[in-house]
Amino acid sequence: MRHLLISDIHSNVEALDACIERAAAAGFDSVLCCGDIVGYGPDPNAAVARVRALEPRSVRGNHDRVAAGLGAADDFNLHAKTAVPWTRDALSHEAAAYLRDLPAGPRGLGGGAQLVHGAVTGEDDYILSSADAAESFRSTGARLTFFGHTHHACVFSLGPAGGVRLETPRGPDERWVAALDASVPYLINPGSVGQPRDHDARAAFAIWDTATSRVEFHRVAYPLETTQRKMRAAGLPTPLIERLRHGR
Ligand SMILES: [Fe+2]
Repeated sequence: MRHLLISDIHSNVEALDACIERAAAAGFDSVLCCGDIVGYGPDPNAAVARVRALEPRSVRGNHDRVAAGLGAADDFNLHAKTAVPWTRDALSHEAAAYLRDLPAGPRGLGGGAQLVHGAVTGEDDYILSSADAAESFRSTGARLTFFGHTHHACVFSLGPAGGVRLETPRGPDERWVAALDASVPYLINPGSVGQPRDHDARAAFAIWDTATSRVEFHRVAYPLETTQRKMRAAGLPTPLIERLRHGR
């Protein structure tokens, strides 16, 4: 079984389309989504429609929760907060209802795997450091946890002595493969489809292949100028538009 892993699409359909096209060429049987389908970007309804069409097992992200009216944006940064009312106004009732019904993580997938948005400890928490990862490892019995929220593709693993190891698929390659050890717990972030923050502007996704016990990390270029043009036309904050070009 090959599971396409997507996260942090953030209303960027140019990036999402590029990822789906590349993933289709690589082959996948099911879709797993770690949330933040909307927020920041110019196409929230189209992003929801495309994700829905993939029939994913998904959790909600903090942006999905706030856009759906399930909470305030109190802990968002200034520009993210500015984009919230725009997204709420732009969302159709149907798209908002889909986001409202997404479950908060952790969402079990069977076989000792689960989805979360931010961390095992909460959808707003970040797993950025080994200490953050250790806290999530302590909080779950799942062997594989797929997460998003940081917009950084990475693999944290827990060694037998309790040490946490971090691997990051950085560099110009379009594909990087992590081989999973059946006896080791992992926290795996496929990276962000629509707003990467690892200084690489290309859209990110991953494919978890259960037959080979491998996770393939992919990067794909997309026409981000088109996304930026739409954001300018929508009057979204300039820093949110600029950051797409820099991948941060
Ligand atoms: Fe996000």
